[in-house]
Parts: sequence; C-alpha cells; structure tokens
Amino acid sequence: MCGIVGYTGSSSAAPYLLDGLKRLEYRGYDSAGIAVSDGEKISQARAKGRLQNLCDETNDGKSIVGTCGIGHTRWATHGAPTKSNAHPHMSNDGKFAVVHNGIIENFAELREELISEGFVFHSETDTEVVAHLLEKYYDGDFKRTVLKTINRLEGSYALGIVCIDFPNEVMTVKLASPLIVGVGVGENFFASDVTALISHTRNVMYLDDGEFASITPDKITVYDCMGAEISKKITHINWSMEAAEKGGYDHFMLKEIMEQPNALKATIEPRVKDGKIVLDDVKLGAAELKNIRNIVITACGSAYHAGCVGKYLIEELARIPVQIDVASELRYRNPIIDEHTLLIAVSQSGETADTIASIKECKARGARTLAIVNVVDSTIAKISDDVLYTWAGPEIAVATTKGYTTQVAVFSLLALYFADELGRISEERYKELYNGIRNIPERCQRAIDLNNKVRDLAKKYSPKDSLFFIGRNLDYAACLEASLKLKEISYIHSEAYAAGELKHGTIALIEEGRLVIALACYHDLFDKLMGNIKEVKARGARVLGVAVEGNRKILAEADDTIFIPETDQLLSTIPETIPLQLFAYYVALENGCDIDKPKNLAKSVTVE
Ligand code: F6R
Repeated sequence: MCGIVGYTGSSSAAPYLLDGLKRLEYRGYDSAGIAVSDGEKISQARAKGRLQNLCDETNDGKSIVGTCGIGHTRWATHGAPTKSNAHPHMSNDGKFAVVHNGIIENFAELREELISEGFVFHSETDTEVVAHLLEKYYDGDFKRTVLKTINRLEGSYALGIVCIDFPNEVMTVKLASPLIVGVGVGENFFASDVTALISHTRNVMYLDDGEFASITPDKITVYDCMGAEISKKITHINWSMEAAEKGGYDHFMLKEIMEQPNALKATIEPRVKDGKIVLDDVKLGAAELKNIRNIVITACGSAYHAGCVGKYLIEELARIPVQIDVASELRYRNPIIDEHTLLIAVSQSGETADTIASIKECKARGARTLAIVNVVDSTIAKISDDVLYTWAGPEIAVATTKGYTTQVAVFSLLALYFADELGRISEERYKELYNGIRNIPERCQRAIDLNNKVRDLAKKYSPKDSLFFIGRNLDYAACLEASLKLKEISYIHSEAYAAGELKHGTIALIEEGRLVIALACYHDLFDKLMGNIKEVKARGARVLGVAVEGNRKILAEADDTIFIPETDQLLSTIPETIPLQLFAYYVALENGCDIDKPKNLAKSVTVE
C-alpha cells in the first residue's frame, strides 16, 4: 500500500525522508520518490522498483538540498508502476509538489477540466490533478489554496504538499486515509504510518477526517475542514517497531482480516455507479458475451476457492456454463477450450506459476482471458486480455484473507454484470443484488465485530484432531476456504464436505465429540442443512453453526452458533468467511503456531 512521509527542520530533509520510506517498505510498493524545497526550487527524485534505486540516484539523499520535503512509496493503482507515475507530482509552474495515499474518485472530471484550461499532465495518476488544482487556486496564501483545492476533491486522501514560496512549511491533509503528525523538537514530521516516525519521535497527533495541518520546524497548526484552527491532543506511543509495523496487532494476518471492510470498499465502490456496475476497461459487453459458450475458471489454493464461489454465481445469475479447475490440473489435461471460451484466472500475487502456465495453454487454444489479480502489472495481469484488479493492497501474511474476499467481491460484480449484459436478470433482482454488493463492506465490518465471540468459541471448541466443515451450494464453497485456512495456519486436519455427500462414506468418521462446523447461510437449502446437522448430532458430533442473524431455527440443532449480518443468500460468502478466518487465527494462536509464516508455505508460488 502507498506510504507517505514529510519532514521539516534544520537538517537535510532527504535522508530523513528516505529513512521514513525504508520503514514503510514492509507494506509493499513498486516505485518511490521524494521532493525537497530549498527556498529557491523544489528538487524531485523518483525511481521505479526498490527504494535502493532512489537511494542510489540521490546518493542516499545527499545530492538533494533543502530542509523541508515529502516522500512516497507507491503501490500502483491508477497507471502502471513507472517513474512518471511515481510520486511526488509537480504543478506545471514548479511551485507545488504533492504526495498522496488514497483515491481521488472524481479525478477524470477534474483532469478534463484542467486540460481544457491548459494544464499539461505528465502521468496517468489520479494524484496529479491535486498539483494542478493547487497551481490554479494559488493566490499567495498556502492555507487558503490548500482549502480551495481539497474542496474540489472527492474520495479518500492523505496528502503531503510543499510550496516553493513557503520553504519551511509542509501541509498535510487527511480524509479516509491514515495520517499521523510526529511532534519533535525544532523539527516536525508526518507519515501515513507510525513506523516511519518512531525512530525520530514517539509523540504524535492523530488527524481526524477532514482535518489538515500546517507544519513548520517549530509549530504545528491543525485546522478543521472549514479552515478554523483546532487544538489536538499529543499521544505518546510506546509500541516496539515490530508492533508498529503490524499497526498494533499481534500478527499481519489479524491486521489484514481487520482491513477487509476497507479493502472491499476500495474494490467495490469504483465499480458501482448510478445504479449500474461498471467494469473498468473490460471489453466484455453483450456482443462479446454472446460469442462465449462456456467459461473456465482456473487458480490455485484460496484463489481457486474464490473461483468456486464465482462458478455458483455466474451460473445462477448469467446462466453461462462454468467449469472450474485448479491450475496445476488444467494445464496438463487437454481441456476442451476454443475461441468461444472465456478463461477467468484468479490470483492475488499475479505470479503463480501454474496459473500463468494455464493461461498460456488456454490462450494457445484460442480462449479469451480475463484476470482477477491484486498486483498491478504482475505477469498474470500482463498476459491476460482483460484485467479486473482487487484493490486489497499488499498482503503480507502468507495465509490470504483480504485477497480472497476481494476476489469473491469481484466475482459478485462480474456475475451480476454478465447477467445484465445478457438480459438474464429482472430489473428488480438486479437492484436487490446491486444494493447488496454495495452493502458488503458494512456487513463485513459487522462480521468483524464478532471478533471477541469467535475468540471465545475458538477456545471452547479448539479442535485437537480432525474436524469437518459442511455446507451446501455457496456455503459449501465457503467451507473449502474455511477448511484450508484452518489447516494451513493451525496444522489441524479438517475436511470441507458438501453436506449431502457425508452419508456416502465419510459419516463413519463422525463419532462422539467430533467437531462439525455447519455453514447454514444459503437460505434455500437451510432446512436440508438442518437435516445434515441432525445426522451428525445423532452420531455424537459437537456442532458449531454459522447462520444469518434472525434465523433462530438453527439454535434447536447446533450447540453454538455464530450469527453473521443479514445479506442476500448469493452474497453471504464474504461475511460468513470472516468469522471463520478469525476462528482459524485463534485456534492457531492457542496452538502456538507461527501464524504469519506457516511451515512449508510461501506467499507466492512461482515454481511448479
Ligand atoms: C492460502 C493461500 C494460497 C494462495 C495460492 C494462490 O491462504 O494464500 O492457497 O491462494 O497459492 O496464490 P495466488 O492467489 O497469489 O495466485
């Protein structure tokens, strides 16, 4: 995820900025840059790739003169990870430099307006509009100019701004993106993350949404969104550096679980506009879809499980036949694929060797390819005809959480979009699901609020040996992911079973005390699932149910139940997955496992 830093003091700014950026490296990035003002000009340095490239270019900051500046590490969103898209971005007159985290949602309109007024753009980013707006509104008053500029912005942003006419001053603005001001002695700082600050100061001010601050070496002045001065409390941080990187959480996995509402918002919001689903630049309208006879989904691990959800959704809504295969199988099985096939490849990293090989194989047979990927410009994104990015931000824990749920969110958007393009859904049902998708981030926030209850249940039910996850339809797809999550981080064996399949053999393994986690969120098959719960209870199983709130019938059968917030049955997979991720996390914690780096697993499997 992008990171920003700022410094003003009496020392040379560039080494401070590079040091701050180094401490943000763990978050992932693909380019970096700094801009420093020396009172006469703003010097800018940017480099693609590792931060070391920027250090080399600036002789570790020594070649950039000035005591006031801003820095940025970029995780590409709008535009490829190139030097010209790297921040800071400059105004045409060279008076302003800007770094930005977040998304300026109305950047396209602003860009058009600014171009028509003669401003020249040098990048594909949404951020560059901010630099030109500052130039447009500049009247010699830095604060007033910033206020006028932010009044034009929609979306989320943490901004850092320097202006040549105010050589000791940095301005920073916060709206729905993290921002912290570091309070020093004769020098002050800001950053998107405390990790960039705590080697210099542990005294910080947390800005709230809509607030902005003017920072000079001796003074920090904070304003509300109307420009009125306000006083802020100084907080002392006593986290270790390691704890700071994890945002105070014990593990990256837990942090990433908690980040899901925001990751889902970033993935969904730009694609739901004025009652319609808008799928970026994907060229798959009615004409192209009519040429598609079948869809093949391929992926590995959790991404494959997201694809399983996708299969149910696309077949149910768009009525296109979907086949799904793990990539290591698809690539070697001589599949029936031609120019009427759409291959959907799913991958968080975009670098998984088997998935890449499957795409190449299917392309060679004439298939059209669509990738659902998290990392911009990764190999899978590059070799596919179309790309839909999951805007989950970097995932550091080996076990995927927000990577998976954002993939499922993209499948929900895609299935509804296909159904609409092909005229296979009523207006009323489209509206219901459209609104349901928009509400997913809020439902997930409520699912996260179950954290304490799930922690207690994980203690109570902490399985010592094999357990079962059972469900039907989309609940079954969710079982596959829940079971993998538990296995990979807690090393406890579990099986995901289609509930109706149990009695075809495996039910022999259900004995006194065996834990069965029964997913019962798919409303149409709820009664059938109750029958399956009865079957396992009759053989002595302990049953932990997962059901939609209000569905109290399950209380008659399950020993305990986790109630997830109500959603349409086609959209419940995401909120129902969250307590199961938490369950896996707390069971692994009980067992003393190395949660972020489970044994024998790699984050990105780039070998066959
Ligand atoms: C499980 C997990 C893996 C990945 C799989 C595919 O938590 O993370 O199963 O889902 O290795 O990786 P990507 O999505 O990067 O292709």
